[in-house]
Amino acid sequence: FLVSKGNRRHFMEKEIHEQPEVISHTLANYLDFSKGTIRANVTPIDFAKVDRIAASACGTAYYAGLIGKYWFEQIARLPVDIDVASEFRYREMPLSKDSLALFVSQSGETADTLASLRYCKQQGLTISSVVNVRESTMARESDAIFPTLAGPEVGVASTKAFTCQLSVLASLAVVAGKMRGTISDEDERRLVHELSEIPRYATQALKLEQQMEAISRDLSQVKHALYLGRGTSFPLALEGALKLKEISYIHAEGYAAGELKHGPIALIDESMPVIVIAPYDRWFEKTVSNMQEVAARGGKIILITDERGAAASTLKTMHTVILPDMPEIITPIVYAVPIQMLAYYTAVFMGTDVDQPRNLAKSVTVE
Ligand code: AGP
Repeated sequence: FLVSKGNRRHFMEKEIHEQPEVISHTLANYLDFSKGTIRANVTPIDFAKVDRIAASACGTAYYAGLIGKYWFEQIARLPVDIDVASEFRYREMPLSKDSLALFVSQSGETADTLASLRYCKQQGLTISSVVNVRESTMARESDAIFPTLAGPEVGVASTKAFTCQLSVLASLAVVAGKMRGTISDEDERRLVHELSEIPRYATQALKLEQQMEAISRDLSQVKHALYLGRGTSFPLALEGALKLKEISYIHAEGYAAGELKHGPIALIDESMPVIVIAPYDRWFEKTVSNMQEVAARGGKIILITDERGAAASTLKTMHTVILPDMPEIITPIVYAVPIQMLAYYTAVFMGTDVDQPRNLAKSVTVE
C-alpha cells in the first residue's frame, strides 16, 4: 500500500505532526478514559506473578524501554533489566522463569531484538512485545503483544513510533501497578487522567515549531552538541542526540546530567551547544546546577523546560523553549516533540536527505 506525505515536505515532518492523533488511538487501546481506569483484559500477563522484567531493544526503541524502566520501577515496584539487544543476546544473563521478557520494536523484524526474543523463549520465559507492525515476526512469536497504533512509519528516523511505545509502556506500568497493588484506585484514576492529556499537550508542543526552526538555524552551524537530562529526561537526551546524529550528521551525545562532572564537562567551551531537557520536576534544581557548570565555561545552553522551570531559573541561556506545566509522568512523551523538531529542522537547514539518511535502513534485519 502507498502512504503519502500529504502536504508535508518529508514523511518525518508528517509523522511528527501525527503524534497527538496516533498517541490518542494507542492510549485508548489500554485505558478507558470515560471510566478513568485501565481497560479490563488488556493483557493475559499477571504482573503480580512477575518478579522482574528482562527487556531489550535497539536504537530508539531501546531508549523507549529505558524510560519504561523508570515507570515500571516507580509505579509498579517491578525491577527492569534493560539492555541493547545486540548485547543481551550474547550476555548469557541469568534469567528466572518468573521474569517477563519484554521487547520493543517498531518493525518487529530487527535481527538482534528477534534473536533476543528467541533466546528468552528457549530459556522458558513468557514473551511479550511492544510492536507497531501487527503481522511482524516478533508479534507472531510473542505470548502477549502490546500494539502501538502509530500506523506506518516511513521516515527512517523514528518519531511517532517512539512516543506511541512510550504511551504503551506508561499504560502498562499503571496496569502492572494495579495488579501488584502498588497503586490505589485513586492513583489509577489520576494516572489515567494524566495520560489522557498527552495528545492535548503534544498539540501544544507542536505549536513551538517556528521557535524550534529558529533554534535549528543556529544548531545547523555547529559540529558537536551535547544533550543532558535527569530521570526520564535522561533517556530522552540519548534519543535527542541519536535523532540529531541520524539525520543532520552532527555529532551529538546524550548524558545523564549528573555525569557531566565525570567527563563530558571537558568538552564544554564557547562553541559547544548544550541542550538541557529540564521540566520542573523533582530533579530540576539538580539539573540547574549542572547548567550553571556549563554556563560558567561559556557553553551555549538551549533549555527545554516548562513555565515553572523558566520562572525558577535565572541563568542566561541562548534559547529557552517553554512548554506548559504538565504532570511528571507525561513529560518524556511531550518533550519528545520539540526534540524531534530540533533534529528535523537542523537536518532541513543542512540539506540532508531527512527521510532516507545515508548509511541507514528503516529496519535492520541483518546482524
Ligand atoms: C530510530 O530513529 C532508528 N532509525 C533506529 O534506532 C531504530 O529505532 C532501531 O533500528 C530499532 O528498530 P525497530 O524499532 O524496528 O526494532
